[in-house]
Order: sequence, then C-alpha cells, then structure tokens
Amino acid sequence: MSVYRNVKKITTHVLSEMKMKGEKITTLTVYDYTMARILDNAGIDIALVGDSAANVMAGHVTTLPVTLDEMINYASSVMRGVKRALVVVDLPFGSYQGNSKQALASAIRIMKETGASAIKVEGGEEIAESVTRILSAGIPVMGHLGLTPQSINKFGTYAVRAQDETEAQKLLADAHLLEQLGCFAIVLEKIPAALGAKVTQELKIPLIGIGAGRYVDGQVLVLHDMLGLNNEFSPRFLRRYLNLYEEITGAVQQYIHDVRTNDFPNEKEQY
Ligand code: KIV
Repeated sequence: MSVYRNVKKITTHVLSEMKMKGEKITTLTVYDYTMARILDNAGIDIALVGDSAANVMAGHVTTLPVTLDEMINYASSVMRGVKRALVVVDLPFGSYQGNSKQALASAIRIMKETGASAIKVEGGEEIAESVTRILSAGIPVMGHLGLTPQSINKFGTYAVRAQDETEAQKLLADAHLLEQLGCFAIVLEKIPAALGAKVTQELKIPLIGIGAGRYVDGQVLVLHDMLGLNNEFSPRFLRRYLNLYEEITGAVQQYIHDVRTNDFPNEKEQY
C-alpha cells in the first residue's frame, strides 16, 4: 500500500513529492456530496469537479454549456463530502477565455464560494497570461493539454490528438510553458503513450493521464464511465469497474415489481 494513503490531507506539495518518489497519483471526477464522500473515504488523491458535469450530470452533448454558477454548485457539494483529497475545479468554457481579468475573477469565485484547493484550465500558450494572473493571486492551477473538450468545435472530432510531429511539438512546448508559469500538474488527454512518457520524463510536475498511456504520473477517469453508468461510451482507454447501468436497472425493475405485487412493504417494513 502507498505510504501516501496515510497522509491526512493531499496538497499540491504532496503530489509533487509523489511524483519524485514514483508513487502513482489517483484522480476521479466527481460532482456531488454522496459520491465525493465515497471516493474520499476510499482514498482517492484528487477529486476533480470536471466540466464533464455538462455531459454526465446535465445530459449535454459537449462540455460547453455548463456555467460558472453550476460548477460552483457542484464543487460546493463535493467539498462537503471531502476531507482528504485535493479538490480541483474546472473553469468552464467562457469563464476564462475572454481575458486574464475575467479568468482571475472566475477563479476567485470558485475559490471563495466553494473552498476548493485549485482550478483547472484547458490550453497552453493561448491562455498563458490568464494562468499567470490566476497564479499571482495564490490560486494553484492545473493545466489540461491534448484533447481539450472545450475546443471540440475546433477539432471537429474526439480522435487521439498530437499524432503528428507538429502538434506533438506544440504540446511539449505548452507543457514546459505551463510548468514554467507555475502550474502544479497537467492533465494529458487522449494522446499517444510515447508522447505521454516523453512529457512525463521532461517535466518535474505531475502529469495525470486520461488515454495518455501508462508512463504518466497518475490517471484520471470520469466517474460515471468507470462505474459503467453510461453504456454508450467505450473509448479504448476506459476500464469499466462496474456495470451500474445494469445493476441499477435491475434494482429499479425489482422495486417496480415488488410494489405492483404488494410485496413491498411487508409486515416488518411498516409501523
Ligand atoms: O471534465 C473532465 O472530466 C475532465 C477530465 C476528463 C480530465 O477534464
């Protein structure tokens, strides 16, 4: 078992030590109090309040529609369930791309109104000024490179990114830039494993992968995907640990049956 399992509170400093010691960092997305409590008690290192909430909580096709107010609401619920994990909250689309002042204002709202420990933003060089400004206010920033879902309309596809040399070089340069600016970690999404390994080797800060192979410093998955709550989404990188869609369907069908047949409640289940 990892020696870090006994750490009372995960901080950005602990994560950097974990990288130095070669201890893998575990991350899952989470959007509500009940799940946050379960994940935290199970020992997850980072609880990421991802803007994938737009998809799995609200049913949108992309992550673009989720608002800053909604993210604050999800994150506040998560914070009530977490004692140990580092809680990182996504700045949603439109809340930081305008200019660095807007970016800082959005980050401050997240920190003030939720009590979370850090924010995450998508992009490299294009958002360098915003990252600098947020960091200068003492707010830890996690980067996100590779397949950045807020740019899906530019990409036009959810295919693997940075397969050609030009895009791979830009990703590497962006990763170095985010590290120099002071980001404490970077998410690498859906890129070749060899590139994930190269970035991980070259940078001192932790690289957390989702579809970025096994040579990165840690992994992240969307909670609903790894629990099998969606059965339509099956990218190669996704390992399903449960099939909750089927389990819950079975439980609900059993309940419907029990009520309809007057089996529930029975003598012992009434006052
Ligand atoms: O919003 C999200 O769930 C994310 C993860 C995919 C890293 O950013």
